[in-house]
Amino acid sequence: MDTPSLQQAFGIDSALRFEEHKSGLVQGIVSTNKCEASFFLHGAHVAHWQPLHTAWPVLFMSQKSYLEPGKPIRGGVPICFPWFSAHPTDSSLPAHGLVRQAAWELMKTQQNDHAVSVVFELSIESFDLRYTVDFGRTLQLALQIVNCDSQARDCEVALHTYFDVGAIEEVSVEGLEPLPFLDQLTKSKYPAEGAPIRFERETDRIYPGAAGKILLNDPQRSRTIAIEAEHSQSTVVWNPWIEKSKRMPDFGDDEYLRMCCIETASIRENRIQLEPQVPSTIAVTYTVLP
Ligand code: BG6
Repeated sequence: MDTPSLQQAFGIDSALRFEEHKSGLVQGIVSTNKCEASFFLHGAHVAHWQPLHTAWPVLFMSQKSYLEPGKPIRGGVPICFPWFSAHPTDSSLPAHGLVRQAAWELMKTQQNDHAVSVVFELSIESFDLRYTVDFGRTLQLALQIVNCDSQARDCEVALHTYFDVGAIEEVSVEGLEPLPFLDQLTKSKYPAEGAPIRFERETDRIYPGAAGKILLNDPQRSRTIAIEAEHSQSTVVWNPWIEKSKRMPDFGDDEYLRMCCIETASIRENRIQLEPQVPSTIAVTYTVLP
């Protein structure tokens, strides 16, 4: 569907409009008395969300991101599915699965008193995905997965959210301290630290198990972002720090100072087991607290 047809079918007065981004990708732009936001159909990618009571965007977007069909976007909320990081057996397949660089179909948009809701769908490898995003004073993401195969299947999933932060060294993450974790850099497991996470070096951790409410405290921005996941069985915390930032072609050398990823996931030993036709949903809500 071209952009004028999308606008006609899915635009909502002044609250949601569709236009071509300068990259050529089709973009939806949300503007209400609750928030400013934007998304791409490419990857069903939420690129921007800023409730009006905070002075800064909540989601980080790299200035060097690719914005091209077939390539993932660096920032916002990439969706990792049906595998997380490298494919376990076939290194020719892309990291983090097939859907963050796929063209999703827009199915429905609507507005109520709280939010503008956008529903995307994609069928891939005998999975049907339905992704609902509610842009309001909070940002709610819900990904429903249905296994259309006649046999049980498993899959990994992550909502790989990049948060914008004022100064990474000042940030702390509360809520994961009771959980042990796998350090992806050393490939070793570590016991629970019992203290909030602080970023002082490259950080790439998987916390298995359901987390309670997670708080991303950002003193520079004078705000805390609350992350409340549902049906998520793992959390990933990532910051590439100095050397890895330099190695990533689609990421600025200094951009690690202004972001961290806290990913609502179900991966590795906590991957999702799906019986045929039985839907499973992973969801998360972000709220900006003063
Ligand atoms: C994180 C992984 O989720 O994503 C990291 O834990 C990885 O290991 C990062 O480097 C970024 O991945 P990509 O494929 O977007 O460069």
